[in-house]
Amino acid sequence: MSTPFSDYQAQCSIRIETKLGSLFDNRSSLYCSLKNTELSAALNEAINYSLLSGGKRVRPLLVYAAAEAITGTNLITDLDGIAAAIECIHCYSLIHDDLPAMDDDDLRRGQPTNHIKFDEATAILAGDALNTAAFEILANLATSTAHTKIELIKILSATAGVRGMVAGQYIDLQAAGQSITTEHLRNMHQLKTGALIRAAVALGATAAGASDAQLKALDDYANAIGLAFQVVDDILDIESSTEQLGKQQGADIGQKKSTFPSLMGLEKTKAEAAYLHKQAIAALASFGANANGLRQLADYIIQRNF
Ligand code: IPE
Ligand code: IPE
Ligand code: MG
Ligand code: MG
Ligand code: MG
Repeated sequence: MSTPFSDYQAQCSIRIETKLGSLFDNRSSLYCSLKNTELSAALNEAINYSLLSGGKRVRPLLVYAAAEAITGTNLITDLDGIAAAIECIHCYSLIHDDLPAMDDDDLRRGQPTNHIKFDEATAILAGDALNTAAFEILANLATSTAHTKIELIKILSATAGVRGMVAGQYIDLQAAGQSITTEHLRNMHQLKTGALIRAAVALGATAAGASDAQLKALDDYANAIGLAFQVVDDILDIESSTEQLGKQQGADIGQKKSTFPSLMGLEKTKAEAAYLHKQAIAALASFGANANGLRQLADYIIQRNF
C-alpha cells in the first residue's frame, strides 16, 4: 500500500526545511559575512525572509519523488542539497517576479513581498544571491562524482536561464495586453514555469542514476505536469481568494496578462489541465509503484487550491 501523500509531503518537508534553514545561517559558507556585521545580518535576513517563508515546496518534492521512481528510495545523501538548489532558484524567481518592474505584487506567501518588506535594491540582490547560491550548492555536493555534479549544473543552468525560465518571464511581460495564439501561450508557460519543474524531475532522476530511456519518460511526465502547474495557477488567480492563495487574487486580470482562461475561458482551461494530468500519468506507464510519489504529485498539482 502506498503512503498517503500528506505523510509523504510531511516527511520531505522536514528534510527540505531543515536544509534550507541551514543554508544562510551564520555557520554556513553561503552566509554573507562582511566586516560590517550589521550589513551582513541585513542581507542574510532579506534572503532568509523569502527562502524560509513557507511555500508548497513542490520542486523539492519532485526531486525526491523522481529519485525514488528510479531507485525505490529518496534516501540519497546529496538529494537535500539538490532539492535546496532548485528551491533557491524558484525563490529568487518569485522575488524578481514580484518587483514593480515585473508583476508589481505586494503579497507573497501571505506576507509582504521582499521589496515591500525591505526595498527594491535589496530584493534584487537577495534574488541574485539565491540564484548564484544554487550553483554553489551543486558544485559542493558532498558525495556525487564530478561528472554528476556537472550534469546537474548543466540541467539547472539551461532551464533557469535564457533558454528556460528567464525567456518565459520575458515573453510573459511582453505578452501583457496583447492577443497571442494558444501555441505562443503554451510555449510561454512551458518556459516560465515548466522549465523549472522539468529541471526538478531531471535533477532527482540524474542524481539517482537514471538511464536515458528513464530520463525521457520522466521528462514527458514533467513537461505535462509543468505546463499543468501554470494552467492551474492561472485558474486559481480567478477562482481562489487572496487569503487562500497568500498572494493577490485577480493579479493577472489587473495586469492584463495573457493566460489560458483569458484566451479560451475557464471551462476549456480546466479541460486542458485534466488532459495534461492524464498525459503525465500515461508517461509513467513503464514505472511501477516506485513512481507513486510522482503520481500523487501530479494529482496534487491539479487538485490544489493554493
Ligand atoms: C508560484 O509557484 C509561481 C509559479 C511558477 C506559478 P508556487 O505555486 O510553487 O509557489 P510557492 O513556492 O508554493 O509559494
Ligand atoms: C511566475 O508566474 C513564474 C515565475 C516566477 C518564474 P506568475 O507571475 O503567474 O506567478 P505568481 O502568480 O505571481 O505566483
Ligand atoms: Mg509573473
Ligand atoms: Mg507573478
Ligand atoms: Mg500567477
